[in-house]
Amino acid sequence: MNAPALPPRRPIRELPDALISQIAAGEVVERPASVVRELVDNALDAGAQNITLRLQAGGVRLISVEDDGMGILPGELPIAFKRHATSKISDLNDLESVSTMGFRGEALAAINSIADCAILSRASGQSEAFLLDGRTGELRQIARAQGTTVEVKELFYSTPARRKFLKTDATELAHCIEAVRRHALARPDVGFAIWHEGKVVEQWRACGSDLDRRLADVLGPDFLARSVAVEWQSADPRADGAGLEARRMRVWGRVGIPDAARARADQQFCYVNGRFVRDKVLTHAARSAFEDVLHGQRQPVYALYLEMDPTRVDVNVHPTKIEVRFRDSREVHQAVRHATEDALSAPRAQAAGAVVPASAIAATAVDQASSAPLWTQALQSTPQRAPGPYPSQSPIAFHVQESLPGQRVSDLAALWQPIDSPRLETQTAQAAAAPEGDWPLGRALAQLQGIYILAENAQGLVVVDMHAAHERIVYERLKNQWADAEGGGTSHRIASQPLLIPATFACSDAEAATAEAHADTLHALGLEISAFSPRTLAVRAVPTTLAQGDAVALARSVLSELEQHEASTVVQRAHNALLATMACHGAVRANRRLTLDEMNALLRDMECTERSDQCNHGRPTWRTVTVADLDKLFLRGR
Ligand SMILES: Nc1ncnc2c1ncn2[C@@H]1O[C@H](COP(=O)(O)OP(=O)(O)OP(=O)(O)O)[C@@H](O)[C@H]1O
Ligand SMILES: [Mg+2]
Repeated sequence: MNAPALPPRRPIRELPDALISQIAAGEVVERPASVVRELVDNALDAGAQNITLRLQAGGVRLISVEDDGMGILPGELPIAFKRHATSKISDLNDLESVSTMGFRGEALAAINSIADCAILSRASGQSEAFLLDGRTGELRQIARAQGTTVEVKELFYSTPARRKFLKTDATELAHCIEAVRRHALARPDVGFAIWHEGKVVEQWRACGSDLDRRLADVLGPDFLARSVAVEWQSADPRADGAGLEARRMRVWGRVGIPDAARARADQQFCYVNGRFVRDKVLTHAARSAFEDVLHGQRQPVYALYLEMDPTRVDVNVHPTKIEVRFRDSREVHQAVRHATEDALSAPRAQAAGAVVPASAIAATAVDQASSAPLWTQALQSTPQRAPGPYPSQSPIAFHVQESLPGQRVSDLAALWQPIDSPRLETQTAQAAAAPEGDWPLGRALAQLQGIYILAENAQGLVVVDMHAAHERIVYERLKNQWADAEGGGTSHRIASQPLLIPATFACSDAEAATAEAHADTLHALGLEISAFSPRTLAVRAVPTTLAQGDAVALARSVLSELEQHEASTVVQRAHNALLATMACHGAVRANRRLTLDEMNALLRDMECTERSDQCNHGRPTWRTVTVADLDKLFLRGR
């Protein structure tokens, strides 16, 4: 048999400089937007206050980035285009604690190898400005104010294969704008302007440290109106002793309420020490904070800023620096998750004038057309307007029975259901003790179709999905009890109540086996289920919170949930899902008639229950239709 033929031998040679740069460019520059990102990085590193971007043909024909930063000294200009030439780091220490956007000293060399480039710059303290031609290396004097302009013409002219991958000018322009948007969201103190073919397409004025204003300018006023502030810091390290200063972390920014979630993940901005990054740890952490409150596949929106010791994050992982590696990614995950969860969990009913603007209702209704209630569809044509409390309006007249005079809701809360969490009890009592006019979710008026509670507050009509709202309240209660029990160090157990007469039911073999195998978990969940006869199970105790419900239905669904999770570790991780299943059974069902007092008690409970604005499946539990909305609906001018 013949030996397989060897490939022809080729000598080992050093590659020419130009080819090395072109290879580097392949990693760094994928499209015009990559050039934009690098040039804006450089302008920000130079301390620019204003950055102007001019583009032609989506950036393929021309990208020019002009800044008013410190400029480049004439003697250093020719070095700027050299490979591995940088003013930003000089040794390994600098690299490990880098605080500038750039540090590789590669971007300009790479871009110059695949396009026609020039740098025009006047350094601070210099009276003369110079232009360096990247192609010829020629340096000549010009006139300009302090700062730098980098011009990049005919991108990929020397690498036509790459050029073929480019999309239409409009698409490339959109990517360029997105690149600047990412910078703009990190630097409200810097002004940005983008021109395309001689016309301004975006302009964001510098606004100091006013992040909210920049967020509204860049992402639209709706983002601001439908998001909550995030502000979180790791505990004061001084309290823990020396050496922990380096572990301090701060997370801030804004996160969209669940209603503001989108079909695409196109409004998720994460920054680490001012650098835009796409990182699995961060996205997962933010997403997990929405676990309990987001509907199906919808994507949350947020702009989150993480500040941490630069030595605890490696930015030198990817040529485009869009990926980072955390030294302790668990700590980062927890920080971002806690920060986001804290911001989301406060019931928004408490926020003064928490009104869902008609425009927002309309947007959601369009988004979730399948399940949109009729009245939201009727509002779809309502023009957009700023949210906020509206001037007090004359009340809507509904002919319904009033609460008995002199009756206080706090006395009546017990009618609704035994309140079993001491924390909730005080909060509900406080909420109910507030003057009636201050109740965020208003005074109950009536029940509609056995499904909705109608209430009146200062803004207008509040409509509450009673099953969804109650399910959330029960779920949060169960979670609190679980957490309290866990924290208490006792064998954790949700408060349980024995049934006077055990509820028995005919069971399958699988159900009997699951009840036996998971007896400990069931016990922890406040359930006692044991064999009554070979084919019959008996429910002997249920969680106190769920005492009112159907014990057999509850037992069956918990057993079927447990059947799906085999190992006990899975059960541990899935306990929220189990609690949610239980809550669904404990919650009041449609068509149950409620008295006004029961309705009011539910509203007060909602006002002080975390995450009560969304049901366990992420759907909203309440909406406001303002009197102004109603006026529009009836074409009633005022
Ligand atoms: N707009 C600018 N204003 C002032 N100096 C600049 C500007 N752009 C580039 N420079 C100088 O040119 C050098 C080279 O820039 P280049 O972008 O190639 O590398 P870098 O920013 O140091 O690192 P990286 O490759 O990671 O971007 C910079 O270190 C900086 O000193
Ligand atoms: Mg750079």
